[in-house]
Amino acid sequence: MEKREQLYEGKAKKVYATDDPELLIVSYKDDATAFNGQKRGTIVGKGVINNRMSNMLMQMLEKAGIPTHYVEEINERDTIVKKVSIVPLEVIIRNIAAGSFSKRYGVEEGVVFDTPTIEFSYKSDALDDPLMNSYHAIAMKLATPEEIETIKKYAFAVNEQLKAFWKEAGVTLVDFKLEFGRLSDGTIVLADEISPDTCRFWDSETGEKLDKDRFRRDMGGVEDAYAEIMKRLSEHL
Ligand code: TMP
Repeated sequence: MEKREQLYEGKAKKVYATDDPELLIVSYKDDATAFNGQKRGTIVGKGVINNRMSNMLMQMLEKAGIPTHYVEEINERDTIVKKVSIVPLEVIIRNIAAGSFSKRYGVEEGVVFDTPTIEFSYKSDALDDPLMNSYHAIAMKLATPEEIETIKKYAFAVNEQLKAFWKEAGVTLVDFKLEFGRLSDGTIVLADEISPDTCRFWDSETGEKLDKDRFRRDMGGVEDAYAEIMKRLSEHL
C-alpha cells in the first residue's frame, strides 16, 4: 500500500490518503512541541520509536479486546491505520499526581491515587485544550452519552493492561493521554498514538523520567530516555 496525497500535518505526525478510502498512512516525525506549540524542537529518532512503540502496544491492547485503529506497520516511520473521525477529546488517565493535575490542585508530584482518575480536554488549539467534563462534551455534541461510556470503559481497560505490562518492564505508568475515533459504521476505536510523547513513564527503581517531560522541562537526556523506554518495551514483549 502506498501513500497518496497528504491530508494533514500535525505536530508530530503526517497523515496520508491511500487507495483504500477506509485506510490511511500515518508517518511519525522527529518534531517535538510542548505548551500548545510554543516550545519547539527535534528529538532525533523519536518518530521511529513512537511508531514502533505505539504499534506494539496497540497490538497488545487488541489482544486484550480493546479495538484500535492499528492495521499494519509498513516501515520504521509509517503505519497503515483505519480511517476514523476523531472524537475531539483528549482522554487522560492518571494513576499518580503529576503535571497539570499537580499544578491545578496543588498536589505534590508522585502522590499515588487509590483508584485511577479520568478527565477530558476539548481538543482545540485555539482554546488551548480546556479541561471539560462529560456533560459539557455531550452538550456540545462532541460525543453521545453511549460513546462517552464506551470511551471511559476502554480508557480504564487500557490503563489496566498498560500498567501491568510496564510494571513487568520496571516502569511506573504515571498517566497518559488517549484519543478515540469513529469508524465509518460508528464503532469507537482507540486511535492516535501511545508513546513517550503521550505517557509519563518513571523508572520503578530510581524514579527517573523516561518520557517527553525531559523535553518539556529542559532536563536533557531526551534521546537517551526515549531509547531506554524503547529498550524496556522490546525486552519485555
Ligand atoms: P498533563 O499533566 O500535562 O495534563 O498531561 C497528562 C498526560 O497527557 C501526560 O502523560 C502527557 C499527556 N499529554 C499529551 O499527550 N498531550 C498534551 O497535549 C498534553 C498537555 C499532555
